[in-house]
Amino acid sequence: MKTSFTLFDRTLHWALALTILFMLLTVFLRLNWMEKNHVAAILMDKLAAIDIEITKDQAIKIAKQIRKPMFDWHVIIGYLVSGIFILRMLFHIKNKKSFNPTTTREKFQLWVYRIFYVLLAATLITGLIIEFGPKSLKKSIEAIHKLTLYYMIAFLFLHFSGILLSEFTSKKGIVSKMIGGEK
Ligand code: HEM
Ligand code: HEM
Repeated sequence: MKTSFTLFDRTLHWALALTILFMLLTVFLRLNWMEKNHVAAILMDKLAAIDIEITKDQAIKIAKQIRKPMFDWHVIIGYLVSGIFILRMLFHIKNKKSFNPTTTREKFQLWVYRIFYVLLAATLITGLIIEFGPKSLKKSIEAIHKLTLYYMIAFLFLHFSGILLSEFTSKKGIVSKMIGGEK
C-alpha cells in the first residue's frame, strides 16, 4: 500500500475532508439548533409573551426562512465536493498501479475506501437530482439522500480509529505524512 502521499493526493484529501466536515456541520445545524419545529416553538413562545398569536404553520414557515441562508451553503459546498470527487476519480484511475495492498489489514482498508467512494457518488448524485431532477422524484430521492448520515458516521469512526491505531502501531507519523508528505 502507498505510504507516501503526493502534494496532489494530500490537497485532494484535505479538500474532501474539510468540505465533507462542513457538509456535516450544515446537517447538524439543520437537525439540531436550527431544526424547524424547535425554532417554530421558540417563535410562538416568545411572540405569545408579547401577545402576538401565530399558528404553528406560520411559525414553521418563518423557521424555514431563518434556516434557508445557512442550508443554502449545503448546496453550494455540495457542488464543490462533487468537483473534488470527479478530480479524485480521474486522478485515481490514472494512478491505479500505486495501490498495491499486501496485508489483510491493507486490503480491508482499500475496500473501506472503495465502498466509501461508491456511497459518496450515490450521495452526490441524489443531492444533484434533488436540485435539478424532476419534482415527482424529489421525495423518494430525498429519503435516499438522507441515509448519507449513517454511512458517513460509520466511515469517520472507522477512519479515525484506523488512523489512531496506525499512529500507535505500525505507521507512526502517518498523520504528518498526510499533512506534509514524506520527509
Ligand atoms: C480530520 C482528520 C483526518 C486525518 C488526520 C486523516 C488522515 C488520513 C490518512 C493518514 C490517510 C491515509 C491512510 C492510509 O494509508 O490509507 C487518509 C486517507 C483517506 N481519508 Fe482521511 N483523514 C482525516 C479526515 C478525513 C475525512 C473527514 C474524510 C472524508 C469523509 C477522509 C477521507 C479519506 C479517504 C477517502 C482516504 C483514502 C485516500 C484518499 O482517497 O485520499 N479523511 N486520511
Ligand atoms: C458530502 C456530501 C453530502 C452530504 C454528507 C450530505 C448530507 C445530507 C443529509 C444527511 C441530509 C438530510 C438532512 C435532514 O435529515 O434533514 C441532506 C439534505 C439535503 N442535501 Fe445533502 N449531502 C451532501 C451533498 C449534497 C449535494 C451535492 C447536494 C446538491 C447539490 C445536496 C442537497 C441537499 C438538499 C437540497 C437537502 C435537503 C433535502 C430536504 O429538503 O429534505 N446535498 N444532505
